[in-house]
Amino acid sequence: MSLTNPHLKFASQAVAKPYFVFALMLFVGQILFGLIMGLQYVVGDFLFPLIPFNVARMVHTNLLIVWLLFGFMGAAYYLIPEEADRELHSPKLALLLFWVFAIAGVLTILGYLLVPYAGLAKLTGNELLPTMGREFLEQPTITKAGIVVVALGFLYNIGMTLLKGRKTAISMVMMTGLIGLAVFFLFSFYNPENLARDKYYWWWVVHLWVEGVWELIMGSMLAFVLIKITGVDREVIEKWLYVIIAMALITGIIGTGHHFFWIGAPGVWLWLGSIFSAMEPLPFFAMVLFAFNMVNRRRREHPNRAAALWAIGTTVTAFLGAGVWGFLHTLAPVNYYTHGSQITAAHGHLAFYGAYAMIVMTMISYAMPRLRGIGEAPDARAQTVEVWGFWLMTLSMMAITLFLTAAGVVQVWLQRLPADGAAMSFMNTMDQLAVFFWLRLVAGVLFFIGLGCYLFSFRQRGRLPVAAAVTA
Ligand code: HEM
Ligand code: HEM
Ligand SMILES: [Fe+2]
Repeated sequence: MSLTNPHLKFASQAVAKPYFVFALMLFVGQILFGLIMGLQYVVGDFLFPLIPFNVARMVHTNLLIVWLLFGFMGAAYYLIPEEADRELHSPKLALLLFWVFAIAGVLTILGYLLVPYAGLAKLTGNELLPTMGREFLEQPTITKAGIVVVALGFLYNIGMTLLKGRKTAISMVMMTGLIGLAVFFLFSFYNPENLARDKYYWWWVVHLWVEGVWELIMGSMLAFVLIKITGVDREVIEKWLYVIIAMALITGIIGTGHHFFWIGAPGVWLWLGSIFSAMEPLPFFAMVLFAFNMVNRRRREHPNRAAALWAIGTTVTAFLGAGVWGFLHTLAPVNYYTHGSQITAAHGHLAFYGAYAMIVMTMISYAMPRLRGIGEAPDARAQTVEVWGFWLMTLSMMAITLFLTAAGVVQVWLQRLPADGAAMSFMNTMDQLAVFFWLRLVAGVLFFIGLGCYLFSFRQRGRLPVAAAVTA
């Protein structure tokens, strides 16, 4: 590894780059499979039997989770040395784990695509410790074990860096979030036969990730980038960060109850889930105020305008997707009608994109020019293309959300509201929604073009000094 990239404070931060690059490659794959499903929604036989809908869905959502994990790890490898004010404990381990995770990830996706799922379960010895078959956690048990190994090595590496270095609020919050991520993943190994119990603990992974510990990771990444691009005092930024994570945990943990309404859990969850999750938009709203406040109080004009746009954009879009679209269906009397409808999908898309896809792109936007040896910021042309990518992706995702919401409202109207007997069947209802699904597909294609712009913005060639280019 080169010691001569002058744009990095510590040479070992360079390990973040392969993580970011691979994350973006998987992102492209995720969207391709999203488009395949978008088409299958309206042309039912598209690619059947080559890629059935359930397989495409699994690939789409698993690629999402895995590219976000690559993004978080890349972010940690970049951020932790800088905050700890020392080199990463072991850059070699970080690179080794990169290859382990990348190869395991690719093999798993190939397994989904090439082997029928039941066959994959057999092939990988699922009956020894059955963990397969649950949404987002479809990975063969052996892949899950691999994820745990990678996570442990990763936590050890950044943990050692932190222990030996400066401890800041940002790095401690990020570390807490990442430990939480690993700990809650362990519930993916617990798969009770009883369906109510199964769902109960499944949400400990899915919900306590996105509405708990991942918010800590997001908050710390946001705070890091805001310090860098605004030059506002660390003390001010840290106070905001503490308030945000406190609100996230206070509301998000008991807020898990909004998934316990109809699974056979005790009725008290109707109240607890509704009340606490109704407050979950607060931390997301605080992040919006935080970002705008810091940018308004900025002490410097950072040349990376695109990174500033991503930082502001992620807070606003996360607030809309998680806060507003989450609140929309989180009260039990509403959720009674909307549960598992297109409204859920609308919310899932805008929340995941706004909070986690965008915070990873914020970090990449800030760090990548340095990692590539270009400097603090890409040139004006590259930034313009990146900003086009930002708006195309973000507005298309808003459009997808609005079309799915419209589809969801009609779905509830036809299929859920009428009294028993008068309700339209699921399939007949779906037929009525076709126009929204076509529009969603169009917006999805625009999203893909936006992603293309974004990737194209990396075309500006790196300007590593000759010596660094040789050793890099
Ligand atoms: C960034 C944060 C968030 C992400 C990434 C996210 C993502 C998702 C996803 C993917 C689902 C669908 C899960 C499934 O059944 O497969 C879901 C469900 C749900 N989310 Fe969120 N969410 C977030 C925050 C919130 C917040 C803050 C609220 C409440 C204010 C909320 C309320 C709900 C509710 C009520 C459901 C269940 C919908 C149903 O019954 O079908 N979410 N979320
Ligand atoms: C841009 C084109 C995209 C299209 C056409 C698309 C389409 C789809 C479709 C058809 C489904 C399955 C819904 C169902 O089961 O009925 C799905 C699920 C999902 N997609 Fe996408 N998607 C796209 C992009 C994205 C992006 C950018 C994200 C997040 C960053 C995302 C996150 C998800 C999630 C979390 C689910 C599971 C939702 C749930 O359980 O409710 N998708 N997508
Ligand atoms: Fe939730």
